[in-house]
Amino acid sequence: MARDIKKLVAEMTLEEKCSLLGGGDFWHTKAVERLGIGQYMMSDGPHGLRKQDDKADHLGINESIKAVCFPAACATTSSFDRDLIYHMGDVIGKECQAENLSVVLGPAVCIKRSPLCGRNFEYMSEDPYLAGEMAASYINGVQKHHIGTSIKHYAANNQESARMSVSAEVSERAMREIYLPAFETAVKKAQPKTIMCSYNKINGTYSAENEWLLTKVLRDDWGYEGFVVTDWGAVNDRVKGVIAGLDLEMPGNTAANDAAVAAAVREGRLDEAKVDECVERILKVFFDYDDNREEQVFDRAADHEIAARIEEDCAVLLKNDGLLPLDPSKKYLFVGEYAVKPRYQGGGSSHINSFKVDSAFECSRAAGRNIDYIQGFPMDKDALSEEDLASLLAKASEYDAVLVFAGLPDIIESEGYDRKDMKLPASQNRLIEELLKVQKNVAVVLSNGAPVELPWADEVPAILEMYLGGEGVGQATDRILFGEVNPSGHLAETWPYKLSDNPSYMNFPGNTRRVYYREDVFVGYRYYDTKEMPVRYAFGHGLSYTTFEISNLRCDKECFTDGETLKVCVDVKNTGSRAGKEVVQLYVSDLNGTIERPVKELKGFEKVELQPGETKTVEFEIDARALSYYSEELGDWFAPSGEYALLAGEASDRITAEGRVKFETKKMLPLHIDVDTTIGELLSDPRTAPVIHQMMAGRAHDSGEGGISGNEEEDAAMQNAMMQYMPIKSLVSFGVLPPDQVQGLLDMIRSQV
Ligand code: BGC
Repeated sequence: MARDIKKLVAEMTLEEKCSLLGGGDFWHTKAVERLGIGQYMMSDGPHGLRKQDDKADHLGINESIKAVCFPAACATTSSFDRDLIYHMGDVIGKECQAENLSVVLGPAVCIKRSPLCGRNFEYMSEDPYLAGEMAASYINGVQKHHIGTSIKHYAANNQESARMSVSAEVSERAMREIYLPAFETAVKKAQPKTIMCSYNKINGTYSAENEWLLTKVLRDDWGYEGFVVTDWGAVNDRVKGVIAGLDLEMPGNTAANDAAVAAAVREGRLDEAKVDECVERILKVFFDYDDNREEQVFDRAADHEIAARIEEDCAVLLKNDGLLPLDPSKKYLFVGEYAVKPRYQGGGSSHINSFKVDSAFECSRAAGRNIDYIQGFPMDKDALSEEDLASLLAKASEYDAVLVFAGLPDIIESEGYDRKDMKLPASQNRLIEELLKVQKNVAVVLSNGAPVELPWADEVPAILEMYLGGEGVGQATDRILFGEVNPSGHLAETWPYKLSDNPSYMNFPGNTRRVYYREDVFVGYRYYDTKEMPVRYAFGHGLSYTTFEISNLRCDKECFTDGETLKVCVDVKNTGSRAGKEVVQLYVSDLNGTIERPVKELKGFEKVELQPGETKTVEFEIDARALSYYSEELGDWFAPSGEYALLAGEASDRITAEGRVKFETKKMLPLHIDVDTTIGELLSDPRTAPVIHQMMAGRAHDSGEGGISGNEEEDAAMQNAMMQYMPIKSLVSFGVLPPDQVQGLLDMIRSQV
């Protein structure tokens, strides 16, 4: 039976209520024993449990219980598979029930603004639609078991440099279009039980005390029902926080802040009803867990296998000139310490004490492959001994191919700091380049959480990106390399050729106080595609051992309007000779040119499994929001009436099916009318255009002047072009309007709006 939380809150003293708004210790909430309220434990995730029994810390330094490390978000998002990540959430939800954890902290959906962000491996994508869809599925999987999630870090925590003091200076449009929608989708489709606010400030105000963020956007606009928890230690002024919409401060040591909240109520600076609401929201989440305990066993061996199967659908085949899959009857050399000690997770608070780790070498050996191993370079240092290199080069040509296991060392990629550059250790690049001189069949297997520059990419025949693939990565690598699994991951982020191509390059990471998001909405492929800038691997790119054809895009309507949906169908055929999975992506492009917009934006994706020769139809549904940008003037989403292109393909740079649709809206942008309003603005607004046309027709009639070109139509076009930027006041200077008629014209125009 559901407990009467309101009644319980009414029985509490002010002090008891305020105590519940702060953590009891590092991972637990406080109890109110008198009323039968216990302590509840939360734990880091999101790709496995980091349950710390004793020595607690949030930097991944002290040990936690043995758990299963699933692939990190950089990998799982590359699956473009909602069911897969739901399944992972489901398994983690069960593990939490078995381990008495009420909330798992994650998923993390901050946008990958720069490839350098130290936590990109934990974040999902540079694209908010993809991140939101995948996060919602993960959350639904976990929360099915009445375990809470804590989507993080809300918001604009796109760098580790100065993350606790920096203010992200972002336009509202960029917030609404890029940095918030992943949270919005998760809230609307999955209601995460908790949401973790970020350390940083946004436009000068700490997230933990940002009323616009925590109340206006989160609760009023999106209808959020759960509670807001601080990132660990993200409180500046808790009273301000509670007023803004913050519910729970973590970790412990909150007695002074609890007392400050109570004092604010007593002194009339804070309404006690606000405190009651916070307590109600918090208890609702924990009681839901308490009242729905499941008998679960954390079967680590079984979950390890699940982690490996998940990774098989995440790895991205970046390049393949036919070297892969490897022929199991031939002889191969594995080079690089990552082949025997995989790098499969990142550093910091998401670090799992893994139950068991599979290396590619041991899995390939166990599968009976004919392989040898030479270290070549160490995993934790940028070092290459000339002697070792010479002996490797002497042997390399004895094999049918050499597989180089390259990647980023732990020290380079972690929570708490950003990368300095986008390079692999120089020793790895050198080894690959030297190898290519003696052996043309070199495949590179990468382990890293974010894009790296690949100076040898044109020379090597194959590159397989495993990302940080979790503890089963070795199995997945072996099975993909030897063709037992057909790779199907696609990039959730663009890989530029070099760091300086990235749109945030000039403004990342700012200084300790401020970072300006000057690229605005042009993040990731939104920038590269609009600028027509070549990149190493485009957003959405991912190869397979078979081939696919995406064609025949059609819509169920030629025109649609506000409140309606549009169905878009596209066919996808497996044109090769192996079964495989394709990611069909749908992008939308505004053809009306009313405001600076990215040339296209992802609005749908589906992963489809196809047998050789098989064709399936994929159906997408979009609405007005999918066509819209955020208009700051309107304070709302807006899609102008007009034509839009629908683009389907297997990557943002491989669009193979296209269609057009018309959209009609009754929404209007506000039009500010004064003497500086231009004729162009008035002509492009359907409310005022008739008045101006009438005025101009009268003028042409009156003047009867001969035109410049002698051709009436051309003259009219020239006159219109010149009038575009002419403000109302200039009509007087150019004798179009007598001065005493300006006010009358303004009044007439205003009466139309
Ligand atoms: C991290 C969070 C994490 C928390 C608890 C913070 O430093 O930013 O992502 O959940 O610590 O470990």
